[in-house]
Amino acid sequence: MNILVTGANGQLGNEMRLLAATGSCPGPDARFIFTDINQASEEAVAMLRRLAGGAAVDTSTRALDITDPDAVHAMVVEEAVDIIVNCAAFTNVDAAETQAELAERLNARAPEILACEMRRSGGLLVHISTDYVFGGERFNTPCGEDLPLSPTGVYGLTKLHGEQAVLASGCRSVILRTAWLYSEFGKNFVRTMLNLTASRPQLNVVFDQCGTPTYAGDLAAAILGILSDFRERTGIYHFSNEGVCSWFDFAKSIAREADAIRPEDRRLGCEIRPCHSDEFPSPVRRPAYSVLDKTRIKQTFPSLTIPYWTDSLRKCLKNIL
Ligand SMILES: NC(=O)c1ccc[n+]([C@@H]2O[C@H](COP(=O)([O-])OP(=O)(O)OC[C@H]3O[C@@H](n4cnc5c(N)ncnc54)[C@H](OP(=O)(O)O)[C@@H]3O)[C@@H](O)[C@H]2O)c1
Repeated sequence: MNILVTGANGQLGNEMRLLAATGSCPGPDARFIFTDINQASEEAVAMLRRLAGGAAVDTSTRALDITDPDAVHAMVVEEAVDIIVNCAAFTNVDAAETQAELAERLNARAPEILACEMRRSGGLLVHISTDYVFGGERFNTPCGEDLPLSPTGVYGLTKLHGEQAVLASGCRSVILRTAWLYSEFGKNFVRTMLNLTASRPQLNVVFDQCGTPTYAGDLAAAILGILSDFRERTGIYHFSNEGVCSWFDFAKSIAREADAIRPEDRRLGCEIRPCHSDEFPSPVRRPAYSVLDKTRIKQTFPSLTIPYWTDSLRKCLKNIL
């Protein structure tokens, strides 16, 4: 089984590399091909090697621009790809507002290219989407897969177009919507808060947006779990860690847990204050409540384990610190 991972140098892609190295494969014959538009940074490669322990982790990156249909076709044929896990995306929510064309190309047209390729070959596309397909409606209970979609910005809209293009292609597909992703790799809220709480006396963090932080390592494990037990259960599924919090609660937990691991950094010396979203002017209105209801994925793939968000946060922080 040949599994092509796109965007392999991003948060989720790197977690896929780690799990592949430590034996969490969907079958004994699984072979991964890790691809991205750029090469991995030295920092990411060093982190991969450290987290893999003694395991042989594949840090190589085959060049693949998923917006190039000819390149995608050539790679799929050459490597006899059975499954594509699409971890590539335009993920900068604010920048998407001024780079709408690029965001549409990467978040909508590229998944369509991958989907058409899998339809042609009979392969499976695992595509990752987002809680930002919601947001216009002010929900106050967890969002099920079939609730009305109402993205409030370019990022959410282009990700919605990506979902629609994958479904319209008629390929075998699993679309996983996730939220508030963080990992040991790249730029994310956890790494930003680790830096800020260690260097500033005080921080304001919004408390009026709620969701569920999701460790990319848990999402990668869920993807591999789904591939191990697939049996043609195509469709859209929601996946996040368990629980609910605000960004303010998330920031407080990062400081508290990090302090327990490395008290010498004195992160609890930073006063974290709750504030409203309008104190942080942004080009995009973010979903106020985008907790994802995971009933469908739990019922369809009962062998998946979904950790509580603070447990996964602790694990990731130990890895980083
Ligand atoms: N991050 C979140 O909070 C969040 C929340 C919900 C859902 N998601 C979804 O989860 C998925 C994974 O997100 P992530 O945070 O792991 O993303 P990420 O860290 O931003 O990684 C995306 C990767 O895609 C690469 N890429 C960019 N353009 C490409 C192209 N044309 N061809 C191939 N690769 C390209 C990027 O390379 P460069 O960095 O060199 O451009 C990067 O390595 C995405 O679908 C995202 O929309 C993310």
